[in-house]
Amino acid sequence: MTTHKSQLDNDIAKVLITEEELNATVSRLAEEISRDYAGKNLLLLCILKGSIVFTGDLMKKLSVPCEIDCMKVSSYGKGTVSGGRINILLDLHRSDLTEKDILIIEDIIDSGRTLSYLVDYLSLNGARSVKTVALLDKPSRREVEYAPDYVGLEIPDEFVVGYGLDYAEGYRSLPYVGILKPEVYTK
Ligand code: IMP
Ligand code: MG
Repeated sequence: MTTHKSQLDNDIAKVLITEEELNATVSRLAEEISRDYAGKNLLLLCILKGSIVFTGDLMKKLSVPCEIDCMKVSSYGKGTVSGGRINILLDLHRSDLTEKDILIIEDIIDSGRTLSYLVDYLSLNGARSVKTVALLDKPSRREVEYAPDYVGLEIPDEFVVGYGLDYAEGYRSLPYVGILKPEVYTK
């Protein structure tokens, strides 16, 4: 029987990061973050929608108190090429940012535009501190000079999906991160 998941698996050229590796990576990040944010007023800011899975797993492993909020931005136009411009699709409406130590949670950093824009935006809006964590980093793709405060894993310049990351809204539910077969997005 062909299940929905095995159809998704069929579109993957290679599993890049297994479920076990993701789990270990998120545990390591959670330890570093818990150590650094002891005694602070941590607000986890999940960047929708790609970071949903990562945020959920990360917060379960934190040993410090945290709040959670979300923003939605778009930098990707259609397909697999970055659009270059950041649009805020869902903003943060809070009046207590001056008391908050914000940790922006991104699934992946590519050109660097999204994270560098958001750090400036939230700092200008008065946040007490703003740092960033990216589960995945494609350093070879950087167009804006920016390094996240915490990085899970560096990956090569390949379009990846799974663990929250999508292509055309699909594949987010895969438990691993895989390289999508180019014929899926070139057909
Ligand atoms: P940046 O602003 O170019 O750094 O783009 C970051 C955003 O691009 C991420 O939050 C993702 O939504 C998207 N993105 C970049 N590379 C990939 C990929 O390989 N797969 C899926 N989404 C990606
Ligand atoms: Mg994203």
